[in-house]
Amino acid sequence: MSVARPPEDARTAAPAREGVPLDAPLLELAIQRKRFGTALILADLHQQVRAGEVIAVVGASGCGKSTLLRIISGLEQRYEGHVLLDGQPVTGLSRDIGFIFQEPRLFPWLTVTENVGFDLGRTWRRQPAVARRIAELLAEVGLSALGDALPKQLSGGQAQRGASARGLFTQPRVLLLDEPFSAVDAFTRMALQDLLLRVARHHGTTVLLVTHDIDEATTLADRVWVLDSHPDTGGSLAADIAIPLPQPRQRDLSALATHRSAVLHALQAVHAI
Ligand SMILES: Nc1ncnc2c1ncn2[C@@H]1O[C@H](COP(=O)(O)OP(=O)(O)OP(=O)(O)O)[C@@H](O)[C@H]1O
Ligand SMILES: [Mg+2]
Repeated sequence: MSVARPPEDARTAAPAREGVPLDAPLLELAIQRKRFGTALILADLHQQVRAGEVIAVVGASGCGKSTLLRIISGLEQRYEGHVLLDGQPVTGLSRDIGFIFQEPRLFPWLTVTENVGFDLGRTWRRQPAVARRIAELLAEVGLSALGDALPKQLSGGQAQRGASARGLFTQPRVLLLDEPFSAVDAFTRMALQDLLLRVARHHGTTVLLVTHDIDEATTLADRVWVLDSHPDTGGSLAADIAIPLPQPRQRDLSALATHRSAVLHALQAVHAI
């Protein structure tokens, strides 16, 4: 376990390419303070994320994980500090950053196919290439047979697959997931975890995943961020645990045990468990 330290300043370490250093991080978080009213939720959270990384975010309930994702997504803009995507400030919602929530949030009056293509409005129906891309995405998430179904006709796991397809449809560079699998059974969860990783790797998507599941965090992530919470000084990053094991990983991989206990100890250290 190690306390996170921002990597060496890439701006001085790498040669410039059209003004952008070659090894520049995709995401730069510099969150000085996030308050709700008088409550200080997050403070001094500085991190960098490289393109293609999968980061799991864990911490006690109420420590600010969802708030952190909302800040990164541009949904939450009232805070001191900044978030940069490719060097540009994130100032609102954008197609570069997708968000998948705990509950699928599909539009009940639209079919699965229409939900996935929703972002393009009605125009995609006249574009065979877009219709093909939706069909491919549905195949990727195992929903080919349910494209014409309404959300109420889907199981919880199928609905979350549909939400995943919709989240990936805009081909975001960063995908934020807030406990996306917590409402489904253990077998479906494992299938959805494998699916997420496969599809994210296929599309080169960078992933930040909030989870309460230590196995989920260690099986999927390249790094696990452990957040603490302090009512007076605000919560921040207590540990940044690297998991340098090749992906995809077998769940019973013995090497995972060491990392699992590192995450467990870090959570115990911040009194999250
Ligand atoms: N819109 C809001 N207005 C006021 N306080 C808020 C608001 N949203 C969140 N909070 C408070 O901010 C803190 C962090 O909330 P957040 O939802 O980010 O926690 P979390 O780590 O995601 O928790 P959980 O694991 O339970 O989902 C909590 O104390 C919560 O009560
Ligand atoms: Mg939350």
